[in-house]
Amino acid sequence: MSKLIFKRRSIRRFKDEVIPDEAISQILKAAMAAPSANNLKAWHFVVITKRELLDHLALIHPYGKMLQQANAAILVCGDNQKQPVTGYLYMDCAAATQNILLEATSLEIGSVWLGIYPRELRMQQIGSFLNLPETIIPVSLVALGYPAERKPINNPWQADAIHYNKW
Ligand SMILES: Cc1cc2nc3c(=O)[nH]c(=O)nc-3n(C[C@H](O)[C@H](O)[C@H](O)COP(=O)(O)O)c2cc1C
Repeated sequence: MSKLIFKRRSIRRFKDEVIPDEAISQILKAAMAAPSANNLKAWHFVVITKRELLDHLALIHPYGKMLQQANAAILVCGDNQKQPVTGYLYMDCAAATQNILLEATSLEIGSVWLGIYPRELRMQQIGSFLNLPETIIPVSLVALGYPAERKPINNPWQADAIHYNKW
C-alpha cells in the first residue's frame, strides 16, 4: 500500500480511452471503505461520464480545465441530514476522496482532486448544475482518465513538519 501512496500524483492530461464500469465500481467501493465519524458514511457519489457534462464542469471550475480530457469524474458529496456535524462531514468526504485517488492509482487510472468546498460559488454552481438536493453538500470532484503524462514518485519527507511529544 505504501508504494501506491507514493506513486499517486495529480494527473491532468488524459488519453481518449473509456474507463470500464467495473473500474468505476471498484473505485467507488474503495471510497466507501474510508473511515467516517460515528461510522455514519454520510456520503454520496455522483459519477459523471457524459461528455457534455464534463465539458461544462470544466467551464464552471476555475482550475478544472482537465475535465475536458477526463473520461469520467466523481463528485464526492456529504449529506448534512445524516451527519449534522459538518466539520466531520467534510473530513469523511476528504477520506473518501483520498481512497478514490489511491484506488484509481492502483488501476493505472490517472486522477486529480479538484477542490469544491469551501468555495461558495463552486458549491452553488456545481450543486445546481448537477441537481443536488439542498441537504447534499458538494465537497470534492475527482477527474479520472487513463494518463497521458507521467510524473515522478512523490518524495514528501518534511523534517520540519514533525514534532515529537510536544511542539
Ligand atoms: C483540497 C484540494 C483541492 C485541490 N484542488 C485542485 C484544483 O482545483 N485543481 C487542480 O488541478 N488540482 C487541485 N488539487 C491537487 C493539488 O494541486 C495537488 O495535490 C498538489 O499540487 C500536489 O501534487 P500531487 O497531487 O501530484 O502530489 C487539490 C488538492 C487538494 C487536496
